[in-house]
Amino acid sequence: MTPPESLAATPSADTRAQLAAFGKGFVLDTWYFVALSRDVEAASLKRHELLGEPVLIGRTRAGQVYAMRDICPHRAAPLSAGRLVEKPGEGETIECCYHGWRFRPDGVCAAIPSLVEDQAYEPERIRVRSYPVRESQGMVFVWVPSDPRLPAEPDHEPPVFPGVVGGGAKLVEWMDFEAHIDHAVVGLMDPAHGPYVHQQWWWRSEHSMHEKAKAFEPRELGFAMVRHAPSSNSRAYKILGGAPATEITFRLPGYRWEHIQVGEKQVLALTCLTPRSDNRTTITQIFWSDHWVFNIAKPFLRMGVVAFLKQDGGMVNLQNEGLRYDPALLWIDDADKQAKWYQQLKREWAKSRAEGRAFANPVKPATLRWKS
Ligand code: FES
Ligand SMILES: [Fe+2]
Repeated sequence: MTPPESLAATPSADTRAQLAAFGKGFVLDTWYFVALSRDVEAASLKRHELLGEPVLIGRTRAGQVYAMRDICPHRAAPLSAGRLVEKPGEGETIECCYHGWRFRPDGVCAAIPSLVEDQAYEPERIRVRSYPVRESQGMVFVWVPSDPRLPAEPDHEPPVFPGVVGGGAKLVEWMDFEAHIDHAVVGLMDPAHGPYVHQQWWWRSEHSMHEKAKAFEPRELGFAMVRHAPSSNSRAYKILGGAPATEITFRLPGYRWEHIQVGEKQVLALTCLTPRSDNRTTITQIFWSDHWVFNIAKPFLRMGVVAFLKQDGGMVNLQNEGLRYDPALLWIDDADKQAKWYQQLKREWAKSRAEGRAFANPVKPATLRWKS
């Protein structure tokens, strides 16, 4: 095992850059989860915040989901405060609540009602910034480009997750954390806080801490803790019976999923992180399963998920007391190795995009050891 490494104590140029980048900026040219498809209803107009920008996410009556900047280019009223209308020859448009300008779902202005016959103003030259949207596996993803003025078509599709089974998500919980997405990601993949932050009797206890060794390998835009039997001190898995095998995967920009297989049956626990602003991140936990135990266990699982989110959220708030002073952070091997990988992945993503080349995954297969 390599000795503990203190970035604060050995500030090479590289690590200084790393410290400067952590907790700042966002992964761009990528797909962010924004909602479950079923929660984006026909004719709905909903204001979201995404990477510090207001974004209207809606669905036409014909079923098309769209996303556009939630600021009317006329005099800045939120388009989400307007309504979806349908006029002859225009198709469905979003009508601003202030002066009634109408915009197509692709952001192009379709009409300015105040214009009279001989006023030669061309509405179609006005457009609201629109964002590419995909619906996949019952979820809505929005593409956030690195240059918002050049909204190029995405060059890759949203992630496809294993284990999306059982006819729709079975359990969904979400919470806003007062944290930059980087801290939320690192909190998710931090194996050492469990015994201190999550001490539920049905999960585990501090006294059951023992040494773990887990094999990791690179995966698309991320890495995985390869399929293994869950730890003997994780009580909650026992309810599934059989011999569950679990695999935990992380992928940029902020997806982490645990895929559990028990014979033919599966459970997928997906966590999606959506950065709202520099210091607010939505954590959405979505579960799918075709295992019969899941329906019975669901009320307890929900309690567990809510408890975990609250405990992590409370910890984030406490951590903010320290982060306010912008301290250097200390990452140690192996417990913080995944956090380091995340930072390397993020840097390589930005670099490969800037240089117009393929992404080269910086993660190498490794076995990480820690006590938890
Ligand atoms: S502000 Fe939207 S139409 Fe005037
Ligand atoms: Fe946690």
